[in-house]
Amino acid sequence: MISAKIEKALNQQVLLEAESSQVYLTMASWAEVAGLSGVAAFLFRHSDEERMHMLKLVRFINERGGHAVIPALKQPAQKYKSIRELFQEVLTHEVFVSTEINNLVDICLKEKDYTTHNFLQWYVSEQIEEEALARKIMDKLKLIGDDKGGLYIFDRDLPAMATAD
Ligand code: FEO
Repeated sequence: MISAKIEKALNQQVLLEAESSQVYLTMASWAEVAGLSGVAAFLFRHSDEERMHMLKLVRFINERGGHAVIPALKQPAQKYKSIRELFQEVLTHEVFVSTEINNLVDICLKEKDYTTHNFLQWYVSEQIEEEALARKIMDKLKLIGDDKGGLYIFDRDLPAMATAD
């Protein structure tokens, strides 16, 4: 059974994962309209993954005697100046998510909730991968700069790069 404090903290994470899914879905739509079909495919998939992260939390909270709250979501920004700005936002967001996961782990240790602590290890590993991928993408975009040909290849190769990790 989880404590009220852990339940509240996990529900905050449900909200964050749901927001992440919503933001990546918005980015995917922007990229698709901009003709960047590879980037769109990557972001649609990323949005699905975030929903899966949220669902995993929902099921865990309920299984442990809590009540997972399905949150309302605010509308994300619909436009991006550039593909670089978009992926910088992805990286910043993932770093923020990692911080929040670490805070959750910290709360579990303080509350001596080792079951939830164990459950959260999956998220700790996932964040390492997500941050690394976002950094790799930003490095590539910096290399490409304003080269349109480079952007074409980046868009073509991104879905494969993401699944290779
Ligand atoms: Fe579920 Fe990308 O954090």
